[in-house]
Amino acid sequence: MTAGESLRLPEALPGLLLDWYDASARVLPWRSEPTPYRVWVSEIMLQQTRVEAAKPYFLRFVEALPDIPALAACPEEALLKLWEGLGYYSRVRNLQKAARLVVERYGGELPASFEALRSLPGIGDYTAGAIASIAFGLARPAVDGNVLRVVSRLTASRRDIADPALKPAVGAEIQAILPSRPGDFNQALMELGACVCLPNGEPLCGGCPLGGICRARELGIQGSLPVKAPQKPRRQEERTIVIIRREDTGELALRRRPATGLLAGMWEPVSFAGRLDQWQTLDALFPLGVMARSLATLPPARHIFTHIEWRMTGWLALVPDGAVCPEAGVVWVHPEELVRRFSLPSAFRPFFEAAGVGVGVA
Ligand code: ADE
Repeated sequence: MTAGESLRLPEALPGLLLDWYDASARVLPWRSEPTPYRVWVSEIMLQQTRVEAAKPYFLRFVEALPDIPALAACPEEALLKLWEGLGYYSRVRNLQKAARLVVERYGGELPASFEALRSLPGIGDYTAGAIASIAFGLARPAVDGNVLRVVSRLTASRRDIADPALKPAVGAEIQAILPSRPGDFNQALMELGACVCLPNGEPLCGGCPLGGICRARELGIQGSLPVKAPQKPRRQEERTIVIIRREDTGELALRRRPATGLLAGMWEPVSFAGRLDQWQTLDALFPLGVMARSLATLPPARHIFTHIEWRMTGWLALVPDGAVCPEAGVVWVHPEELVRRFSLPSAFRPFFEAAGVGVGVA
């Protein structure tokens, strides 16, 4: 037997996997009450966050917004605040866009149809498959990164998991063997990937219910699968972040990012492209109507986005009474109000914290 191309799944897979899942599935809040809305919210959160980390965010979110009409009606600032700490804010914006369509088209309840789900903003093949199978019991696959890894090892496939053609191919193989509990089966595959068939060459084969049918294990190559082509390196960008504080009121300057692009529409401290020294920073602040009395360095920080990495230099600018022009294009916010009302991208958190402002992200 050799490693290769075939993704054909063994017939024994559903039975072995479901027995294991029934005995050892984690108890998770969206599993114990798998309404379509809760499954949807959890799946969107889990695209970017591990299960354990997502739990408190999930509970807070569904408590504040218990159903689709509540999500549709939530003011944007409150919505972003509920998502603060999870990042990728376009996901929650799409969640709300979709909720509004669901209110308009379907009376506020998600439709029990893969195609109708798939047509909503932010819902791709994976999420539509997960909601269709878990919440509605429809026979659809849901293929995420965990599932790709499990299937690659199970079948000793050397196909590149970064190849976009692989997901539909794996989906077709799963579709062919889906048992009568498609939601549990899909979740069991993900669960196995998250808890046993771990990434980075570290699978816990001793505790795997599929040990007897795993081709990679039989060949002793589980540590070198799955194959993943190297990613294009991220673009590196230098930025200068300036936390500006008024000496008279203690207020901090915030402004809004453009409506499109990276961190679209999010609040941020004043920032500039490039690595500015203190004189350049003072000059750059002047057109904003801010004349700083002094600048103090803040420790540098990095932030990794999907395709870009920011290398950030930080300054704390203290602005004396009267040295602020009201038309500066910034809003002045008390630190407590900032914590309570504004959601700040986590990229800026180290600078606020170094400036003595705990931005209190959960
Ligand atoms: N990852 C994403 N969704 C999941 C689910 N429903 N169960 C386990 N892991 C997941």
